[in-house]
Amino acid sequence: MSVSEPATGAAPVSGHAGLPPEAKAELDEIRRRYPTNEAALLPALHIAQKVWGGWLPDEAIQAVARELDLAPAKVYGVVTFYDLYHQKPVGRHRIRVCTNLSCQLRGSEEIMETLHQELGVGEDEVTPDGRVSYVHFECLGSCDTAPMMMVDETYQENLTPDRVRQILKGLK
Ligand code: FES
Repeated sequence: MSVSEPATGAAPVSGHAGLPPEAKAELDEIRRRYPTNEAALLPALHIAQKVWGGWLPDEAIQAVARELDLAPAKVYGVVTFYDLYHQKPVGRHRIRVCTNLSCQLRGSEEIMETLHQELGVGEDEVTPDGRVSYVHFECLGSCDTAPMMMVDETYQENLTPDRVRQILKGLK
């Protein structure tokens, strides 16, 4: 069982009043390994995010709260705190462009513009084929190689518009 990598980019799944039986079984297994329901919340959200096609609509958050007997506000708080959880659909590949000072001075705006032109969608939108979404982000700690962006879990550094185009071509 793997709960560390949520599936992203699939069409949002609708019609789940709660977690389906397989997901409940997965969650039961996890709960056995954690001392409290609250401690099991992060992996539970990963499970729900897989079920709902890579993001967590309100009904998914409510379902997790019910399963773990936690206040929905608590679950919302965790979802909004962690970048790993999404409250809107995301692409199969997620791009985070650093727009903090060093990257800004070295062309992050041009990088964002290149993404917009090449993908044909705005920030925080998903390409029609579900392949990519992108957002701007705070400093990712690689200021000496600005401008940079993170593609899924990989740092792409010293970017130019041409390099961005090349990277996008490699994303399936
Ligand atoms: S300012 Fe962009 S990585 Fe730090």
